[in-house]
Formats: sequence, structure tokens, C-alpha cells
Amino acid sequence: MPHQPWAISPLQQALLRWYQHQGRDLPWRHSRDAYAIWVSEIMLQQTQVQTVIPYYQRWLEHFPTISSLAAADQDQVLKQWQGLGYYARARNLHHAARIVEADHGGKFPEQFEQVIALPGIGRTTAGGILSAAFNQPWPILDGNVKRVLARLLALDRPPKQAEAYLWQWSEQLLPHGQARDFNQALMDLGATRCTPRQPLCHDCPWQAHCRAYAENKHHQIPIKMKTNPIPHKYIGVAVIWNDAGQLLIDRRPAAGLLGGLWEFPGGKIEPGETVQDCIVREVTEELGIAVDVGEHLIDIDHAYSHFKVTLQVYHCRHRQGEPQPLGCDAVRWVSLEELDQYAFPKANEQIIAALRSQAHPIDLPPTDLPV
Ligand code: ADE
Repeated sequence: MPHQPWAISPLQQALLRWYQHQGRDLPWRHSRDAYAIWVSEIMLQQTQVQTVIPYYQRWLEHFPTISSLAAADQDQVLKQWQGLGYYARARNLHHAARIVEADHGGKFPEQFEQVIALPGIGRTTAGGILSAAFNQPWPILDGNVKRVLARLLALDRPPKQAEAYLWQWSEQLLPHGQARDFNQALMDLGATRCTPRQPLCHDCPWQAHCRAYAENKHHQIPIKMKTNPIPHKYIGVAVIWNDAGQLLIDRRPAAGLLGGLWEFPGGKIEPGETVQDCIVREVTEELGIAVDVGEHLIDIDHAYSHFKVTLQVYHCRHRQGEPQPLGCDAVRWVSLEELDQYAFPKANEQIIAALRSQAHPIDLPPTDLPV
């Protein structure tokens, strides 16, 4: 481990020089506004740079300041996030903006302890924001940096089992007075050279220092954890029409997966249950209504981080009962055109696209919806 954090070692120098010439030109790197950088860091936690860029730009047009975000309602915030996934990030960002507004006078705090106390901000995000906005000397350790350091050190375990050790390295490597560029450079190295598969070692500023490369182990490192098979859930989904040609949507409870987003009603198909039985049961439990299940609309496969789902979507006709939010947050009848005003999970967007591309079932003769 380096002993003199104030001295620029060849390792540090090589990376900083490489970054000057080969670093990426990314929109948030032109900013010193801690709020804008915070937004970028949260979006980048689980999403690729190229996907984030347009969202980041639109977000700042919509919510240019912490105060404007704090004043927005959750539906507006989720609508701007729609399509980025991992919606807890948007809810936390919103909640944290309200805390900054109330406790810090609307100004993003500059003290590490105050930053890491905000919802959605862990150690690496706090370090990323404070180094990028204020050049404060905090290390980072996201997935890319773990991989870079694991290879540099030829780490003999999965990075998850050596986090304290990797944090020490990230901290010790940080050059005095250049935390901003060094952290950004580390991320770029991971994203563009030290990639998960086929790393570009011939074009890496750390090739001469890298133990994995020297030992010809760069394809085996980082060592993978043994993982359990990913569960697959089958979900019955109801597109429920009323006689006025409107559709029923509900809002998911605020806490939990996809919390606060709107969806078409439905739920998990239990063992031995048909999808039609599942839909009838779910809408009774969740909304207190009776429906007739009609034609199949579409099946949609979607992968979340820890499981996969297949949505089996059916047209339904509302038969009786005023919809009530029994197993959800809110329910609403809306027209096909109005659906755009609501934030839906990605898989539900495909349902909307399928609905728009086919004839309006209420326009069809009633026999098209068998009861
Ligand atoms: N991932 C997390 N933070 C990032 C940043 N500032 N630039 C590029 N990728 C990132």
C-alpha cells in the first residue's frame, strides 16, 4: 500500500495524465453545482451513462434547483424518472431534497456526515458528489472501481468479501488536491478500458502496474460470487374497461418495489390457479370489484435485478362494485389518451403500446368479450 498519500506516485500520475487526454466529456463534469452532480450520481448508480444523459438534462430543465424538486409532488417526480428503473432512487432524491430544504436552507450540505445522512446516499455516492463538486478528498468504490482495484491487486476473493480492503486502497490512492479528477478518471478507466469482459489492457494507463495483467489473470478477476438461480414470477394482469371506454389503473403502495408508480391491476398466479382465476381473485382483493375476463392482449417478459416476471395480460370488463384502494394507494378510471400523464413501470408501458396498436375493444361487438 502506498505510504505517502501527498506524493503523486507513478500510478496516480499515469491515470491523471490519461484522463486529461482520454477522459469522457460528460455533461455533469461541466458543473460544480452539487445538486446537479448529486442528480447525476443517483441516476448513474444503476444506469449506464448513455441512458442517463437525456434524463439528466430533462430533469434539470424540470427541476433546476433543490427547492423546485422539494416543491414538486411525487407523481411529477416519478414521471420524470419513468424508464430509468429502480424507482426508490427517485423517491429518495425527492425526500432528500425536502430534507435539504428544511434542514440546510435549500443548500446542498458540504460535510460528509450530513451528506451521507440523506436518503439514497451511501459512502461511494457521498464521496463521488463531494469530490466532484468541491474537490474534497473522499474515495469512491462503485462496481467499476471495485473491478479496477480487484485487477490491479489481483484480488483472490470476490470484491464483496474484501470491501474494507478495497476502500483502503481507494483512499490511499487518492492524490492530494486532485480527488475530483482522480475519482472521475477511475470511473472512466472501469467504464472504457477495464471492462467486465474483454478488457482493453493494451490501451490501459495502469497496464504496467496491474498484477492481474502481469499474472495473466485479468479474465478471471474479479472472482465471481456463487449466485442462486433467479426466481421467475408469473403475473396475471387485467386491462379493465368500463362502459364509458375508460381503463382502470391503480397506484402501488409507496413502500416497496416500484412504489408510487401506476399500473394495471393484477398479481401473482398461485400454484394450480389459471390466469383468469388469478385476475378475478386479485381485483376482488385489491379493488373490491367483479370483472369478466375476456381476450388475451399480450404476454410480456421483464427482468428485474433479483427476479424475472412474465405478465399475462387480459382484457376485462367491469361488472360490479365501485373500485376501492384496498391493496393499493389509489385507483382511477382514465381514457387511453390520459395514460401518458401517469408514470408506469417499463413492462406496463408495453401494455399501453399494445393497447394503442389494436382496436378499442369497447368498439367491438360484445361477443368479442366472452363472459
Ligand atoms: N458513474 C457514477 N458516477 C459517474 C460519473 N461521475 N461519471 C461517469 N460514470 C459515473
